[in-house]
Amino acid sequence: MQKIDGKLISAQIKEEIAIEVKQIIDNGGKKPNLAVLLVGNDGGSQVYVKSKIKACELVGFKSTSIKLPDTVSQTILLEEIDKLNKNKDIDGFIVQLPLPKHIDENRIIEAIAPSKDVDGFHPINVGRMSVGLPAYISATPLGIIELLKRYKIETAGKHCVVLGRSNIVGRPMATLMSKKAYPGNATVTICHSRTKNIKEITLNADIIIVALGSPEFLTADMVKQGAVVIDVGTTRIKSDKTKSGWKLKGDVKFEEVAPKCSFITPVPGGVGPMTIASLLKNTLLAAKKEIYS
Ligand code: GUN
Repeated sequence: MQKIDGKLISAQIKEEIAIEVKQIIDNGGKKPNLAVLLVGNDGGSQVYVKSKIKACELVGFKSTSIKLPDTVSQTILLEEIDKLNKNKDIDGFIVQLPLPKHIDENRIIEAIAPSKDVDGFHPINVGRMSVGLPAYISATPLGIIELLKRYKIETAGKHCVVLGRSNIVGRPMATLMSKKAYPGNATVTICHSRTKNIKEITLNADIIIVALGSPEFLTADMVKQGAVVIDVGTTRIKSDKTKSGWKLKGDVKFEEVAPKCSFITPVPGGVGPMTIASLLKNTLLAAKKEIYS
């Protein structure tokens, strides 16, 4: 069993990005600039946004943080997005999700200019990715693809089971794994809350990608010997053993599943750090105008 070290790979990617940024500056260019828009006080979102801003600093990006109260109207939020779309100094931006209940998430995502949508959530980017055109790809699936690549994990002809059908992870993950490419060329099954006999399906899987947000959902009896297991779960649970008062729990019962795997990602230190590295990569692409010229 080999543990996939997302912390190490993300550090390598950040280093690669930092070198490119330095070259851009040395050639008289400007620092890539990522804006992050946060609405409200969700604890998890605040932590993620802080990490994104810190990562920008680390690779030499400029970052712009915009905070709005959770009482903000949808109209005001749309106006802020319009300003970011038009601001020539901003290369790309994200609106941290989830948003307060009175705001229509899809309406917000659709308001972001596809050329600045470094989260890859806009239907134009999702559609372009689906048909193989250059597009911003959602950061978590992109990070998982990078892990499979850097660990040289074989995917062609393999049965890949994706647990979860979210727009952010499950669906784009399934699209990427079925693409005629490496990593890809897999036979993909998507399972969700209405799937019957999940265990029967996962027992048949060579690669299992779990993105349910259901702590320790995947147990050893659901996994075939030698499978590759990718854990996207990051549920925050209370803990008196950490300084912050909480710790992250994955969707995989790691201790019992790991011995059966050829490769497995831990939580924390697996997929999580890759998500931020992918966002930085997308922002660099935006600054270089490589997706939309
Ligand atoms: N909430 C959870 N993950 C993400 C992400 O990748 N981007 C944004 N904008 N919000 C999120």
